[in-house]
Amino acid sequence: MNPIAIDVKNLVKVYHKRGQPPVRALDGISFAVPRGQIFGLLGPNGAGKTTTLKILTTLLPATSGSAHILGFDVERQPFEVRKNICVVLQENAADLYLSLRDNLRTYGRFHGLDARETETRANHVTELFDLGEYRNQRLIDLSGGLKRRLQVAKVFMVDKQVVFLDEATTGMDAINKRTTIQAIKQEARKGRTIVLTTHILAEAEELCDSLVIVDRGRIAASGSVEDVKLIGFKFVHVTMMFRRLNPRTIAALRQFTPVSMETRNTSIEMTLKKESDVLKVLRAAKRDKNFVNFEVGGATLEDVFVELVRMPREESR
Ligand SMILES: Nc1ncnc2c1ncn2[C@@H]1O[C@H](COP(=O)(O)OP(=O)(O)OP(=O)(O)O)[C@@H](O)[C@H]1O
Ligand SMILES: [Mg+2]
Repeated sequence: MNPIAIDVKNLVKVYHKRGQPPVRALDGISFAVPRGQIFGLLGPNGAGKTTTLKILTTLLPATSGSAHILGFDVERQPFEVRKNICVVLQENAADLYLSLRDNLRTYGRFHGLDARETETRANHVTELFDLGEYRNQRLIDLSGGLKRRLQVAKVFMVDKQVVFLDEATTGMDAINKRTTIQAIKQEARKGRTIVLTTHILAEAEELCDSLVIVDRGRIAASGSVEDVKLIGFKFVHVTMMFRRLNPRTIAALRQFTPVSMETRNTSIEMTLKKESDVLKVLRAAKRDKNFVNFEVGGATLEDVFVELVRMPREESR
């Protein structure tokens, strides 16, 4: 069995709208997600998260690049892909005039479950997402946050291997969010691969095994959340990737007197004494027009995120 659930290579998406300049929403992003992981796609508004999700779920064609889900090509084998995935989009889709329970039932039956299985699964997700007290209420009478919780709960009616959640917890209060996050975690333990997008870093830190930060259609950083948990450790490890190495950049980085520094073909690895040096180092690296991206262990995700998004992008191509 292929250990990689999702394989994205060099995905580009340009939106063309009549009378408007084209929008390059994705500018060549690549990442791979191992099976059974919760993977986070992070980034500010307009970064390209939903666009990525729509391409991976066969709802939108890419301009170039490739994406495979469980080995199936999203463009050439969309039906195989759809058989194995389910998705919660950013906009809610549910029947407002049906009860919560009937919404779950409809979803189950639509996906081919028989009546008995539908009841069993509906009971399971109702309990898992703590929706019991609302089961007979029509959706139109529920709060926005609860509607959203149902929306997320619904996709767990059926056993799909890969689940995509676009801004799953939007509009939820802290308690609602907690319930939903716990339920998602439990479902992931069954071996499902879950991809979620968010701009809430704390959520990503809590849920994700690994993540990428997308900024203006490019991957600005990637790594495991274990790295992030190293906060408080004295030393911070930074790996920077370049299209090719420039001796001037290497010299500039040495100025930060790292604990260690190693250069490979197209990457530089540094261990820094202070967390506060990370952003300075990254700024210096970003001045190099061949800078591609970096991974960091030990700094807070929030710092890196804010700084990345604030940094003007060097036009490197
Ligand atoms: N159908 C479309 N036509 C033209 N431009 C679009 C279209 N959909 C998205 N875009 C543009 O593509 C870029 C990426 O949008 P996308 O919705 O993927 O971002 P996002 O990361 O999901 O943002 P958010 O956090 O606000 O949901 C934005 O500049 C957006 O305006
Ligand atoms: Mg979005």
